[in-house]
Amino acid sequence: MEIKTVDLTRIFHVGNSKVIAVNGVNLEIDEAKFIAITGPSGSGKTTLLNLIGLNDRPTYGKIFVDEEDTSSWNNAKRRKVRLLRMGFVFQTFNLLPTLTSIENVELPMALVGKSRKEQNENAMKLLKVVGLANRMHHRPKELSMGEMQRVAIARALANNPEIIIADEPTGELDSKTAKEIVDLLAEVNRQRKATVIVATHDEKIVEAADKIYSLKDGMLTFKS
Ligand SMILES: Nc1ncnc2c1ncn2[C@@H]1O[C@H](COP(=O)(O)OP(=O)(O)O)[C@@H](O)[C@H]1O
Ligand SMILES: [Mg+2]
Repeated sequence: MEIKTVDLTRIFHVGNSKVIAVNGVNLEIDEAKFIAITGPSGSGKTTLLNLIGLNDRPTYGKIFVDEEDTSSWNNAKRRKVRLLRMGFVFQTFNLLPTLTSIENVELPMALVGKSRKEQNENAMKLLKVVGLANRMHHRPKELSMGEMQRVAIARALANNPEIIIADEPTGELDSKTAKEIVDLLAEVNRQRKATVIVATHDEKIVEAADKIYSLKDGMLTFKS
């Protein structure tokens, strides 16, 4: 999936004040690339990823997906693209606490109507990919933080997305586990040819990205 933003801007109004959370961002993300967006807390990373992930709409500017202007897409179309073509990874994992690892990974497949058999077989396969074949029937509270994030990555891969959008995926992890999670995302990028976008305040962990951008006060600059 190729994504292009043109003068992307998101303004929030709270009371009488106005926050320009994303300010005129022009970004081109080529297919199968590993992109990092770094920036301190409050710089606009989550707001930018919510726009790119079609979870929010810009105040100004546009987002193109494979050269198609998404501004005309209705909510049903956005939801469908998110579910079928995008995968999401969050800082605090967002696993459903009452479901086991395998059930969490099956969920996105259930939502698109895959058969029980396919859900189960594919979820098992994905948990093996992330190194958790022996944790299939554990619930989130029975897992370490790193294991929870691996389950979340397996879940993000469930419908074989073209892009993975990860918002501070290592924010809760110690540095060794953080490195393992970034390595896993890099492997997903290489082996599945999926585009990966990682937002982080920790520049060190994304040195391996194809391109690194930095956000400050909603403005994006190319770093390397
Ligand atoms: N829903 C919202 N309403 C009002 N202000 C918001 C909202 N979401 C984010 N902001 C503001 O926008 C700025 C960027 O926030 P955010 O995108 O969460 O940054 P980051 O993810 O880099 O920490 C911050 O100043 C934040 O307070
Ligand atoms: Mg954030």
